[in-house]
Amino acid sequence: MSGMIGYDIMSEVPDFELTVTTRKGFELQEINYAMNVLDVLVAQQPAQILSHIDIINRYKVKLFVELGTYMGGGLTYVIPNLVLDQDFRYMGYEILPDTVNNKIFAFASEHPRCEIMLQDMFIPHNLSVVSAAIASTQGCVYVFCDGGDKPKELETFSKFLRIGDIISVHDYVEDQTGETTDIDLEKLGDDFAPLDEELRKNLLWMPTFIKVK
Ligand SMILES: C[S@@+](CC[C@H](N)C(=O)[O-])C[C@H]1O[C@@H](n2cnc3c(N)ncnc32)[C@H](O)[C@@H]1O
Repeated sequence: MSGMIGYDIMSEVPDFELTVTTRKGFELQEINYAMNVLDVLVAQQPAQILSHIDIINRYKVKLFVELGTYMGGGLTYVIPNLVLDQDFRYMGYEILPDTVNNKIFAFASEHPRCEIMLQDMFIPHNLSVVSAAIASTQGCVYVFCDGGDKPKELETFSKFLRIGDIISVHDYVEDQTGETTDIDLEKLGDDFAPLDEELRKNLLWMPTFIKVK
């Protein structure tokens, strides 16, 4: 049958640790941060990463803006889009210059549609850059608020979005102890509708909205 008999996959995985979180009767199984593309760490749970991939591919996103790139672990999951879709663009902001992994810089240096800005996302120039990039995108834009002030990012960058564009925010916890709370979400007003609320907000704790008017 298989030539893999005797192959011990666990011996390939250093520091393997499985944790199980139960939410709403679902078990979310999480593996520690050692499990990443090229060992570039990502500061999100696996189910949240899958949510980004799902949004990007289901809504045919052409511009993904990651506010807070950190090491670039989130970016690694959109490398297929950057390589295969000539209209797909990634823009990431990271304020700490030594944080982004060198492998990510090497990739970006060869892919002009992968832009990592080592700058404060909130300086007026960058707000203009992002706003202009969104306005000129042919197709859906997806903004992920994951920097140092997520409620402010949600409020600021949501204003640049067009009908059909999508925005998610991280560090939301159902009991309102996270950085992002329901009060922050309500500020979006009725120009935005929750996207898959039961899944993305209530289960993944990553509230997501689509601009509807
Ligand atoms: C939670 S981490 C991002 C995690 C990343 N999205 C991931 O999935 O791995 C937040 C990052 O935002 C960066 N950051 C905080 N404030 C910022 C700002 N004003 N402009 C750009 N980056 C910022 C921090 O240095 C930090 O690396």
